[in-house]
Amino acid sequence: MAALRRMGLAAPGETVCLEPLAGGVSSDIFVAHLEGGPVCVKRALARLKVAAEWRAPTERNRYEAAYLRFAAAVAPGAVPEVLAADEESLAFAMPYLDPATHPVWKQLLRDGRTDPEFARRVGRVLARIHAASADRADLAREFATDANFHAIRLEPYLEATARAHPDLAPTLLAVSARTACTRRALVHGDVSPKNILAGPLGPVLLDAECAWFGDPAFDLAFCLNHLLLKAVWRPAHREGYARCFDTLAAAYLSAVGWEPATDLEMRASTLLPGLLLARIDGKSPVEYIRATANREWVRGFVRHWLAAAPGAGGTQRGRLAPLAEAWYRGLAQHPPSRED
Ligand SMILES: Nc1ncnc2c1ncn2[C@@H]1O[C@H](COP(=O)(O)OP(=O)(O)O)[C@@H](O)[C@H]1O
Ligand SMILES: [Mg+2]
Repeated sequence: MAALRRMGLAAPGETVCLEPLAGGVSSDIFVAHLEGGPVCVKRALARLKVAAEWRAPTERNRYEAAYLRFAAAVAPGAVPEVLAADEESLAFAMPYLDPATHPVWKQLLRDGRTDPEFARRVGRVLARIHAASADRADLAREFATDANFHAIRLEPYLEATARAHPDLAPTLLAVSARTACTRRALVHGDVSPKNILAGPLGPVLLDAECAWFGDPAFDLAFCLNHLLLKAVWRPAHREGYARCFDTLAAAYLSAVGWEPATDLEMRASTLLPGLLLARIDGKSPVEYIRATANREWVRGFVRHWLAAAPGAGGTQRGRLAPLAEAWYRGLAQHPPSRED
């Protein structure tokens, strides 16, 4: 493939075997078996849709490579190293991390392998990337991807959910607007267990296509949201998820130095109900909560939580621990219906 030669990874005339990996909607991702060993190549797909959607995936590849370069410099090993990038095909290459030694965290969590120490390290790595980027004007300029972040995060999650629940719209839209105008640090934007590999040296974050200089609370809330939702999917491991939630949040918050940790915790804890509901009624619902009773339970929890702690200054609403306690306790009292 020409891009591999342009990146200097394949010699002219070298035969390269390409093996596709299961990827998302906007990228091709494959392993290139080169003479020097395997590398992983991620390339933006130009979708034949409206112009804006055509551009976003290709630009996202460039932002992802830039994010990975920054994160590798400030948190070595916490992301795959960018080996080379190709502007012509909007692709970049990184080391291939063998799933045998780098399982996806989502699979481990599903199987009940809920290691609080690993969760703590995820919290620490995120905080390190945020701390190193906080208030840096150069990064704010480089990652001024506000329109993209709105289009692929705030709109499909919070704003779409506001349309599905008009009575909650003022709350959800206020959180969305506050997030959009909080520009403090370099945000990954997709810190989901499916984008985190559990490597022998600790967590490795992948898939930084949504990188944005914005609200670091978004990354924390986004990741914690998955630790809440997993307990509906696999209730047997509820306590393990709860411990991971606590250790991740505590490790992260103890490392916040660029602003009062309580401010950040307030933003994360008010994002969380919106993100929970977004994974049921937004444009990107989780694939593992399908049972009607479970979807209703999440809706009921969020409604009750928002009603019970009105006002952004409410003490409960500003803290993560009470929300997690209420969530996991609620699931213990009302065991969810079986999911696949
Ligand atoms: N460097 C890598 N080494 C091994 N597997 C990888 C690597 N990068 C990505 N993958 C695998 O490919 C999947 C999709 O990659 P990701 O960057 O998340 O793309 P997408 O945007 O399509 O979700 C990941 O979940 C992971 O399983
Ligand atoms: Mg991904």
